[in-house]
Amino acid sequence: MAPASSSTHSAITLNINGEKYPLSVDHRTTLLDALRERLDLTGTKKGCDQGQCGACTVLIDGRRAVSCLHLAVAAEGREITTIEGMAEGDRLHPVQQAFLDLDGYQCGYCTPGQICSAVAVIEEHAAGWPSAVTDDVRPEAGPPPLTAEEIRERMSGNLCRCGAYVSIVQAVARAAEAHEETTKEASA
Ligand code: FES
Ligand code: FES
Repeated sequence: MAPASSSTHSAITLNINGEKYPLSVDHRTTLLDALRERLDLTGTKKGCDQGQCGACTVLIDGRRAVSCLHLAVAAEGREITTIEGMAEGDRLHPVQQAFLDLDGYQCGYCTPGQICSAVAVIEEHAAGWPSAVTDDVRPEAGPPPLTAEEIRERMSGNLCRCGAYVSIVQAVARAAEAHEETTKEASA
């Protein structure tokens, strides 16, 4: 049966990790609460619930977004990727593998958000997007070297209360190198 709509609720279909999820939501429901409380996709974490910690980061149309500040109704028709959609079967996403190999976590609570952010950071960097610490922001300069400073700045929206930052930076750097290699091989 199709979910009901009213003046306070809307019937929407969310496209998450390639699957369609029809549901009726109160218009005030955040995407984070829809994921966790309605759809049992609890990989996405709630930290501050006010856009300050990054624990709830997901990808919307490939761009990172803090799902606690995004209304579920506004996410209809968009491609949403959560941590549950990163791996391909038993094969971890290269960013997940790098976090695992380099201990890019301690308690793991911030890790899904860190990984979603890192996936987008690597794409943004490869596309030549500058950051606040990029010296030469001219388009013709191309992507800046992905130094630890660049990674720290680009990942600065994701807090880690355990302070696993050193390993997180190493994991992002390794995954970015792997991404560059794969891109080179694909275009050779
Ligand atoms: S829970 Fe969304 S930014 Fe902290
Ligand atoms: S690993 Fe514990 S908060 Fe980041």
